[in-house]
Amino acid sequence: MYTDYWGLKEPPFENVPSDRLFRSPQHEEALMRLIYAVDHRKAVAMLTGDVGTGKTTVAKAFMKQLSEKKYDARILSNPALGPVDLIKAILLQFGEKTESNSKTDLLNLLSQRLYRNSERNLNSVLMVDEAHVINDQSTLDELRMMLNLHANGKFLITLVLLGQPPLLRKISSLQPLKERIGVKYHLEPLDLQNTIRYIMFRLKAAGAVRGCYTKEAVSVLHGYTEGLPLRINNICDRCLLIGFMRKAHLIDAKIVNEAIEDTR
Ligand SMILES: Nc1ncnc2c1ncn2[C@@H]1O[C@H](COP(=O)(O)OP(=O)(O)O)[C@@H](O)[C@H]1O
Ligand SMILES: [Mg+2]
Repeated sequence: MYTDYWGLKEPPFENVPSDRLFRSPQHEEALMRLIYAVDHRKAVAMLTGDVGTGKTTVAKAFMKQLSEKKYDARILSNPALGPVDLIKAILLQFGEKTESNSKTDLLNLLSQRLYRNSERNLNSVLMVDEAHVINDQSTLDELRMMLNLHANGKFLITLVLLGQPPLLRKISSLQPLKERIGVKYHLEPLDLQNTIRYIMFRLKAAGAVRGCYTKEAVSVLHGYTEGLPLRINNICDRCLLIGFMRKAHLIDAKIVNEAIEDTR
């Protein structure tokens, strides 16, 4: 709607985990640590952060970076399941089909797949997004059990757990899983400087040839959004719409305040 007015090819601030990663120092570090974890076959890597900090976006960039020749990496996005359904969901992600509901059968099938991968020199990786929603202790236990599988002194799978901070608490109460965490990182929101860079990055990716926000505007925006990309997207999008309706040349602090009012 406003794209032509701002000289854009597409809306810049869509709230879907885009596969164009803005590499703030923190997002870059999160990505590097995850890659280190799978490269060195760590048992567990954990990435935490509040909602909207960019965990799923990092996960997408991470998956994209893993060569299919070296990794068999899968992502489980809805892990709020009981133990049997969890194993079924994991098998489904790995493309293994079965009618069985027997936990033993399911676990056998999964371990066969992981051994097969290992024989083919493929590192198996399972990412579990929103892992903090797992309420069932026995489900977490089931994940841990996957780490009991070894071949040639190496873990057969790397678990990458992504979730909001309560994940830390849940894992802490599960000593055997906690002790296997080889890589841990907490994503903080963006500071002002990186909020400016983030907005520029998204605008450029959408085809902008000039900046659209004044410095004051971004400063107000950063204060309100606390540097959470999810919120920055929401407000920035509204600003472009309001700016378009007002025929503004630039988004200033007044428009940002109006956009903030809109969300209340
Ligand atoms: N580093 C980034 N690069 C580009 N977009 C990002 C980045 N981090 C977050 N976002 C944007 O913010 C939104 C929320 O990020 P998301 O990865 O879903 O957060 P989380 O999984 O931590 O809740 C995403 O839709 C995405 O558009
Ligand atoms: Mg997410």
